[in-house]
Amino acid sequence: MDEGSCKAPQGEQYYNLGMSPKFIAFVVAPLLALTPAFVIFGIPALWHAFGSLLGTYLRRKTEGRRAHILELIADDEKRFLEKKDDKLGSTAGKNGWSGVVGFFHPFCNAGGGGERVLWAAIRAIQTQWPKARIVVYTGDHEVNKEAILARVKNRFNIQLQPHTIQFLYLSTRYWVLASTWPRFTLLMQSLGSIVLGWDAFSLMIPDIFIDTMGYAFTLGLSKWLFRDIPTAAYVHYPTISTDMLESLDPDSPLGSQGVNAGQGVGWRGTAKKYYWKAFAWIYTTMGTTIDVVMTNSTWTQAHVTSLWGPSRREAGKKDSIAVVYPPCAVEELEEAVEISAASEARRGKILLYIAQFRPEKNHQLIVQAFATFVKSGTEAAKDAKLVLVGSVRDDHDSKRVYKLRLLVRELHIQDQVEFRLDAPWPDILKWLQEASIGVNGMWNEHFGIGVVEYQASGLISVVHDSGGPKLDIVTEIDGQPTGFHASTADEFAEGFEKALSLPDKVAVRLRARESAKRFGEVEFDRKWIEQTTKLVALAKK
Ligand SMILES: *[C@@H]1O[C@H](CO)[C@@H](O)[C@H](O)[C@H]1NC(C)=O
Repeated sequence: MDEGSCKAPQGEQYYNLGMSPKFIAFVVAPLLALTPAFVIFGIPALWHAFGSLLGTYLRRKTEGRRAHILELIADDEKRFLEKKDDKLGSTAGKNGWSGVVGFFHPFCNAGGGGERVLWAAIRAIQTQWPKARIVVYTGDHEVNKEAILARVKNRFNIQLQPHTIQFLYLSTRYWVLASTWPRFTLLMQSLGSIVLGWDAFSLMIPDIFIDTMGYAFTLGLSKWLFRDIPTAAYVHYPTISTDMLESLDPDSPLGSQGVNAGQGVGWRGTAKKYYWKAFAWIYTTMGTTIDVVMTNSTWTQAHVTSLWGPSRREAGKKDSIAVVYPPCAVEELEEAVEISAASEARRGKILLYIAQFRPEKNHQLIVQAFATFVKSGTEAAKDAKLVLVGSVRDDHDSKRVYKLRLLVRELHIQDQVEFRLDAPWPDILKWLQEASIGVNGMWNEHFGIGVVEYQASGLISVVHDSGGPKLDIVTEIDGQPTGFHASTADEFAEGFEKALSLPDKVAVRLRARESAKRFGEVEFDRKWIEQTTKLVALAKK
């Protein structure tokens, strides 16, 4: 392919005008998806040889461009060092690894929780290996490096070293949009991600390849083409889960839940079941090739392990799938909210529930539980107050708030319940300082950043006995509880009573804060570096 295809307007934007995406889509991608079949029919050696051959071809083709990009980064760095007279140059000692880490994140400018992980990960790498070069493969053509990095600073308060980052622009992102594929969306998006992966490697082949968006097929492609490039996945959510497979079956416990609930009957249902099973099988084949797998929670870890675990072990991958929690603003809350005997006097008998007014947040349950608690007439319940803080996104939310207010009146607790809609951050902070208890009523919440914020602020949690709040967050610290779990209204009422009558609340608050540290930025950096160190070691070989 001609070098002209790396034409860059400001010396920064690279486009791949090379091999036709159709060729990749209709020849390479289906072949790769057939990997399990090849393996089963006993011709793996041939298959691997074919992949390596393609990989070698791609390497040849892109060598020139890689050198060019590295030169650009070197120039940037030189300019940066001259300007800042920084000490970066002298950090080359033991962490002088200077390879290229490629982050596959086609929607890097989206500004969501997934992006926070990406930027925090890059910052951790830049701190640990200052000489490493970072490339981010993205499809966000409308923004350049300055704009993206400025947004990262504003939105997440994450400051990155600009001189060692380059953005490489993918031109085939529509291949992974759900809207491109009305049918067989799951499979077609995944095949599409192989096209996108080829697009990425045609721009530049990195020394370590990390996917932070859940494109396992792209990592499978990477391993197939370049066996010696270590790969890693940060999985927020499995593309297909055992829950999904089970939910098709109306007789299973999950058969009544989710959009596909109980659909696995009739010939269509049977076909769907086989389609999903086949998909899960290919997905597992891809997952088995990945060197380092991280998940964002215990829930995701359990699901990914149940799918990939057995065949990864068979393939001799000894490292277990790690949980690396996304970084929450724990340190910031530690600074803003005091926990001491003095501040204890400023906290009221306030139960705080911070959650959007969405149905699954189950405010009703909490209101009912609070009414039961108030009616118990105990010392703790006297003058206790429930404060519901949350955003209202649309009419449906407003209607729910209206109904909740009615319920509150019916239960005769209107003097003790307060609604705070769309409260700005300073107000939320004030409630975190003044409240005593933090509440969460949602069943099976995957994580619950709000609960982490309660803990970081020293609130004693009374949360639903399921999902992330139970498994990940409100757990014991030094064998002592940081809060209470409950499922029914009565259990919640009991939890409120227990939490408000604790003899030494400050001790529990301090423990809760300790617990929250597990989800802070410091901890994220530590774990991320621990995992990346394995990749760097593999890359050196
Ligand atoms: C993990 O990602 C999923 C999907 O984006 C999300 O629902 C969940 O809350 C995340 N967990 C954590 C710990 O952030």
